[in-house]
Amino acid sequence: MCKRNLELAGRSWIPEGLRHLSNQPVSGEPVSKNIVRAEGHISGADRAENFGHESKTVWFTGLSGSGKSTLAFAVEKALIAKGVAAYVLDGDNVRFGLNSDLGFSPEDRTENIRRIGEVCRLFQDSGMVVLTAFISPYVADRAKVRSLHPEGSFVEVFVDTPLEVCEARDVKGLYKKARAGEIGEFSGISAPYEPPPSPEITVDTSKPLDDCVAEIVAYLMGSSLKSS
Ligand code: ADX
Repeated sequence: MCKRNLELAGRSWIPEGLRHLSNQPVSGEPVSKNIVRAEGHISGADRAENFGHESKTVWFTGLSGSGKSTLAFAVEKALIAKGVAAYVLDGDNVRFGLNSDLGFSPEDRTENIRRIGEVCRLFQDSGMVVLTAFISPYVADRAKVRSLHPEGSFVEVFVDTPLEVCEARDVKGLYKKARAGEIGEFSGISAPYEPPPSPEITVDTSKPLDDCVAEIVAYLMGSSLKSS
């Protein structure tokens, strides 16, 4: 087993909070009654030792076009360069597969985030660092995902790009369509976006991308990594 003695956000590389994760409770009562939880042989501490770091969920939230995906993929690249097992779950991408049955009604968005929250919990259990890029417009939905995580292992990153800037960029041409009424329930235009009241990190995307990435990576990595 490799011990790279990495620290993320100042926490020990063997996270206490991980030990119970293999036996984590489900977030709702399962419909199936005759099911029994299976036990593996690997503890959270074993996985942390194997990877050389603890697991985390880094949750990017913000409007469409705010830069969530760009930031998440750049942070993923920087973390992997530092030997951290990281992986991005991206809103658009996940809607091509796991969540291809969901639209943009409030109920569907809540279900979208619920499923992703559960996927994040599995990533947590696996020992990896998962980065997510979903608008996730509702405070309550994000709070629920946070509550599935051990204290300190959920890092909310508010990609604080103003609507006017997202709309001016309009990389996918969706704001134009939303203003023309061709797309309904569009976040920031005809559907709400609730900013996080107390995110761990707020990113000012008027700064260069590299600076934003460095800020997030610095938050995630402990001081022991600064020289590497
Ligand atoms: S969320 O609100 O449920 O979290 P998610 O992040 O999965 O949304 O998907 C958002 C992406 O879907 C946007 O970046 C955009 O490309 C696309 N999209 C299509 N229709 C809409 C809409 N009505 N509102 C917001 N985004 C939309």
